[in-house]
Amino acid sequence: MAYMVFARKWRPKTFDDVIGQEHIVGTLRRAIEKDRIAHAYIFTGTRGVGKTTIARILARALNCEKGPTPTPCGECAICKDILSGQGFDVAEIDGASNNSVADIRELRENIGYSTMSGKYKVVVIDEVHMLSTAAFNAFLKTLEEPPPNVIFIMATTNPEKIPVTIHSRCQRYDFRRVGTERIAAHLAKICEAEGMKFEKGALILIARKAEGSVRDSLSLLDQACSFCGDNLSEKEVRSVLGLVGTDVYRGLMKDIREKNQSDALGSIQKALFDGYDLHEFIMGLQEYLRNLLFARIPGALEARGIDLEAEEAKKFADESKEFAETDLLRMAEIAKKVEMELKWSAYPQFLVEVMTLKFLYLDTSASIEQLLKFAAEKGGENTAGLLAPGSEGVKKKTELTPAHKPKPEVPANAINNNNNEHVDKNISVDGNTAKTEPMIKTLVNIFDGELL
Ligand SMILES: Nc1ncnc2c1ncn2[C@@H]1O[C@H](COP(=O)(O)OP(=O)(O)OP(=O)(O)O)[C@@H](O)[C@H]1O
Ligand SMILES: [Mg+2]
Ligand SMILES: [Zn+2]
Repeated sequence: MAYMVFARKWRPKTFDDVIGQEHIVGTLRRAIEKDRIAHAYIFTGTRGVGKTTIARILARALNCEKGPTPTPCGECAICKDILSGQGFDVAEIDGASNNSVADIRELRENIGYSTMSGKYKVVVIDEVHMLSTAAFNAFLKTLEEPPPNVIFIMATTNPEKIPVTIHSRCQRYDFRRVGTERIAAHLAKICEAEGMKFEKGALILIARKAEGSVRDSLSLLDQACSFCGDNLSEKEVRSVLGLVGTDVYRGLMKDIREKNQSDALGSIQKALFDGYDLHEFIMGLQEYLRNLLFARIPGALEARGIDLEAEEAKKFADESKEFAETDLLRMAEIAKKVEMELKWSAYPQFLVEVMTLKFLYLDTSASIEQLLKFAAEKGGENTAGLLAPGSEGVKKKTELTPAHKPKPEVPANAINNNNNEHVDKNISVDGNTAKTEPMIKTLVNIFDGELL
């Protein structure tokens, strides 16, 4: 038999095989059991999440010789025909290329002749939002009162482009993107059935790259198999998918830790020379930072399904100790911001370079700690406590929005500004009057800026 890509070979044949769309599958099952099938549905959702698949299963569930049943047999002639996409009882029409009034008229005439072998005729119109306004109008009447036993399923990735008049005549089902874990587990099942060996990390990479689309994940799996053969290693899959290797990030973080500015910037340059996409680079960096953050908390990596080899997990755990937790959090936040700004930037490389420089100068948070300590020693015991994150003083300060933020006022409870003029005059700290300290001013300025 000719080679068939995984996405087609593994198209679910029953509702049970569909992953991640339980809300839709459950509703349709009950509708079939209770004989409450609507005559028009809108299936919306991104590419490759099961719209056509569920439309075909529904057609079989209704038409199976043993049906209507939520569990079509898959054996009878009708089931087999529909499965292969050839069945007369399912018509799949491409809305993008059949979008005129004439096309709708033709469709109306064709479905006028009722079904041949089965009990229902299911008409799937893909990309229905591409119909012209006139075509939608021509369709309205048919949709309101279709010939008996005809069911329309309109699939679209842009539901907002469908007129409300059409919407109000249909039941709308929103298909979800499928989670990374679910997709990875699905891929694992398929690999096992295909007799392929795999590292779990490799499947997670594929699932993540698919961004919720099951079809994309299966196409990527095909691609990975062509490269790696019957043994999918994380390293090879990473390279097939154009993902940046962990060692690149590890090197970058080392340069950041050691304040090795030119090497840190150089590794960005190198990643670009090696042909990596900057968006991919930032996504990988965030994942790396995530691993570092969770490596500090016992069991947190496992609880999040991050399945690292023991040796790799230890590397993360050791490395994470080299960074202050607040620094890691700030890096994660900065990287997230860059990810969002990247697609609008005319000069994305510079964004990433600036991010790297920010990482390099992050140690200001260490000096805040030193400042607090210094403040506690100089300005009274309670200063550090009052200014510590989460404390009364800091909470007050955070609540103030820039619009109605008083001038350089200090948190009300923390430091009492007797003079009401400027901070660096006489400052009373919980009754203890501290001498003018430019350091306190620095602290106040810091709180005015962004601080984790
Ligand atoms: N929810 C799912 N569960 C299991 N497999 C799925 C699921 N969704 C998609 N697939 C796989 O992806 C393939 C394509 O899915 P399908 O044709 O249903 O996507 P679609 O939502 O209609 O996408 P498009 O918008 O691109 O038409 C299926 O053959 C199947 O292998
Ligand atoms: Mg489809
Ligand atoms: Zn059947």
